[in-house]
Amino acid sequence: MTLAIQAEALSKTYKGQVKAVENVSFAVEAGEAYGFLGPNGAGKTTTVAMLTAGLVPTAGHAVVDGVDVIREPSTLKKRIGIVFQESTADSDLTGRENLSLAAALFNVPRRDAAGRIDSLLERMQIGEAADRLAKTYSGGMRRRLELAVGIIHSPKVLFLDEPTLGLDPQGRAGFWRYVEQLRKDHGMTVFITTHYLEEADNICDRIAIIDRGHIVATGSPSELKDRLGGDVVTVRPTRPEPTLEATLRAIPGVSSVGSAEGAYRVKAANGEKLVPALVDACTRAGVGLATVSLKRPSLDEVFLEFTGREYREDDAVSATDRAVRIGQVQQAFGRARR
Ligand SMILES: Nc1ncnc2c1ncn2[C@@H]1O[C@H](COP(=O)(O)OP(=O)(O)OP(=O)(O)O)[C@@H](O)[C@H]1O
Ligand SMILES: [Mg+2]
Repeated sequence: MTLAIQAEALSKTYKGQVKAVENVSFAVEAGEAYGFLGPNGAGKTTTVAMLTAGLVPTAGHAVVDGVDVIREPSTLKKRIGIVFQESTADSDLTGRENLSLAAALFNVPRRDAAGRIDSLLERMQIGEAADRLAKTYSGGMRRRLELAVGIIHSPKVLFLDEPTLGLDPQGRAGFWRYVEQLRKDHGMTVFITTHYLEEADNICDRIAIIDRGHIVATGSPSELKDRLGGDVVTVRPTRPEPTLEATLRAIPGVSSVGSAEGAYRVKAANGEKLVPALVDACTRAGVGLATVSLKRPSLDEVFLEFTGREYREDDAVSATDRAVRIGQVQQAFGRARR
């Protein structure tokens, strides 16, 4: 097993004593797509910044593609690819010019650059717009250009910090298709943070859920969902009936019953099969049913289970995040911040 990323006890405390990341360890195998999920302020961007030598850890260390991120930051920056949410492409240059600039910055040999740029432009479907200024591009085209810029030097490890934020579902699906293709063709390792849980579910081989600077769960999407103990059937009776909870719990196949706000959350390996028995139990208890709903385990449920909070998509952008990202972009070729 070759490790592409190895983080050991990484911590970051910002000035002002914000403990953004505390004692975070994980390993990503070469070729894996690894997702980092967590609510706003969980420490995702901070972790990416430490792994890409944009930020010096307060403690711990990390090795990415065989390079120590603290000891050899400039070697690392030349090797990895990064795509931030904040656009790093220059709007006043054309798509092709942006790629040429990136190729030069990353020391792509001149004899290879032109061919590589042409093929990337074609692959990312920006060929026709290649010689137009990037400021005339749609959001999706810009994202694809950013991706092309991020991989111009054929990095073995690509970091994507919420790369699809603000794209419509089609744009997001398109973006991930390109990433998938790159993984297939080059066996690239991809480290992803995203607020779109179903994206992580579709793309990631493994996921870490981070909350308040700590990793609270790791596993493949299906392992994480399995840990929830199956489907959840929510039964909402028309009126409170104190005996109902025990009655539901006694039904064969039910693994647990919880109640909140006048509804019962019934967990079972196969929720669908159980619905008739649940309805029957309510009828026998003499209560009507307002609603019955079945939820298959999803990463939303996993998120709720491990963080104790509902996942909300409108959490997606935070001010600190913007500041950190802009800082990272500015620092991309400079010294890491402390
Ligand atoms: N430059 C900074 N100075 C002080 N505190 C910071 C700085 N950058 C981030 N933080 C704080 O560190 C914590 C983690 O922030 P980080 O940006 O890593 O979270 P995130 O998981 O990327 O969040 P989001 O989902 O909003 O992007 C937050 O409490 C944030 O306020
Ligand atoms: Mg962030």
